[in-house]
Amino acid sequence: VTLFDRNLLIFLKDLDLGLGKNTHHRAAVKMLPTFVRATPDGTEKGDFLALDLGGTNFRVLHVRVVEEEQKVLKMDSQICAIPKEMMLGTGEQLFDHIAACLGDFLISQNLKGQTLPLGFTFSFPCEQKEIDKSILIRWTKGFNCSGVEGKDVVKLLKEAIRRRGDYDIGSVAMVNDTVGTMMSCGYKDQSCEIGMIIGTGTNACYMEEMRNVRRVEGEDGRMCINTEWGGFGDDGSLKDIQTEFDVVVDKTSINPGVHIFEKMISGMYLGEIVRLLLVRLAENKLLFKGQTSEALRTPGTFETKFISEIEEQVSGLENTQIILTKLGLKWNSVDCGVVRLVCDTISSRSADLCAAALATITNRIRTNRKLARLKTTVGVDGTVYRKHPKFSEKLRATVRRLAPECDITFLVSEDGSGKGAAMVTAVALRLAHHILI
Ligand code: GLC
Repeated sequence: VTLFDRNLLIFLKDLDLGLGKNTHHRAAVKMLPTFVRATPDGTEKGDFLALDLGGTNFRVLHVRVVEEEQKVLKMDSQICAIPKEMMLGTGEQLFDHIAACLGDFLISQNLKGQTLPLGFTFSFPCEQKEIDKSILIRWTKGFNCSGVEGKDVVKLLKEAIRRRGDYDIGSVAMVNDTVGTMMSCGYKDQSCEIGMIIGTGTNACYMEEMRNVRRVEGEDGRMCINTEWGGFGDDGSLKDIQTEFDVVVDKTSINPGVHIFEKMISGMYLGEIVRLLLVRLAENKLLFKGQTSEALRTPGTFETKFISEIEEQVSGLENTQIILTKLGLKWNSVDCGVVRLVCDTISSRSADLCAAALATITNRIRTNRKLARLKTTVGVDGTVYRKHPKFSEKLRATVRRLAPECDITFLVSEDGSGKGAAMVTAVALRLAHHILI
C-alpha cells in the first residue's frame, strides 16, 4: 500500500467518523448536515435576495427564478469590499457592515418596501439545526471576527438588520458555497449531487443516504452533507505527506493546526508554498546563483495567480521572466525552467489531493447505492479550478484513475454562490409549502 492509498483509506474512514452519532464531535472531517433534502425539480419560482460571504468578494444579489423557462436570472448584484481590519475585527462590526451593504442595495434596486426571502451563502463550517439556524463552528481562510464562533449566524444578521430598523427580510436559508454550487448546477442537470470548491479554500458536499446520517433523525431519502474536507489531517493523519513547507504555511497562518488539507490545496496558500520552496532552493544554491531578494523573502508576495501565469502553455516562459524580475530576482533560463517545474509540482499535487478526496466520495455514493457503475455530475467552482491552465484536466485524469467505475461529468457552476443560494431558498420554500398543504 502506497502512502497515497493509505491516505485514501483514512479519508474514507473519516467520512464515517464524521457521520457517526458518537464520533462526530472529535472528527477531523466534520460531515455537516445541511438540511437540504432535495435538489431542484424545476417548479421553483420567485424573487430572492442572496448574500455571498467567504470567497474572493462579499456580494449582494437580487435573483429571479423563472419556472416556465427553467431559468435562474441574476437581476443585479453589487460587490461590497470588506476591509482586512474588519475580517479580524468584531462580529458586530462585520454584521453591521453586511446589513448596511444590503440596505444600500435594496435602495438602489427599489426593493426597500418588500420582504424578500434571502439565501445566505456563508462559506465556513457551520453546525446547522435547521435550514435557518446555523452555528459557526470556527472561522477559516482569512476571517477571524470575535464573538461569532458558537453563535447562530442568522440571528446575528437579523439583529444587525433590526438595529438599523429601516428594512426587513423574509425567511432565510443558510447555504455553504459547495451546496450553492451543487444546487445551481442541479437546475440544469438533475444528476448533479456533488458540489466542489477549489478557490480561496477547498471543500465539497454530496447527497448522502439519510440512513447513514446518524446525527439527524429519519431513515428515508437523502440529505446533502457539507464534508468540510479542508479539515482532513487536523488530527495529524496527514503528517507523513506534509512537507516542511506545508508545516511552515500552517504555523504562520492565522489558524495554526486547522484545515491542514486545505492548506496543501487552495488558492489562499499555494503561492506561499511555492515561495518557501523557491527560497529554500536559492539558499541551497540551486536557483538564482544562490541569491534571493527582499520581495521573495517577504511572506505573501508570491501570489497564487502567478502559478497560473507561469504554467500558461504559450506565454508561460515570458510570464515567468516578468514575475521573477518584478520580485527583484536575477534569473537565467535554467532558473526559469526550475521555477516552472516547482509551480507544476505544487499545482499538480493540489489537483491530485482533491482528486483523491473526490474519488473517495463518488465511490462511496456508488457503494451506497449498490451500483456496479455510477453516472454522476459534479458542480464545481473556485478560482484555482477556473483559472489555472492545467488544474481541471489533471484533476479529472486522476479521478478517472482512482474511481474507474464512476462516469463523472464536471459542470462549472454559473455563479453558484449567488444563484445557488436563491435556488436553495426556493427549494426550501417549495418543501415548506408542501408541508403546509
Ligand atoms: C473553507 C470553508 C468551507 C468552504 C470552503 C470553500 O474550507 O471552511 O466552508 O466551503 O472554504 O470556500
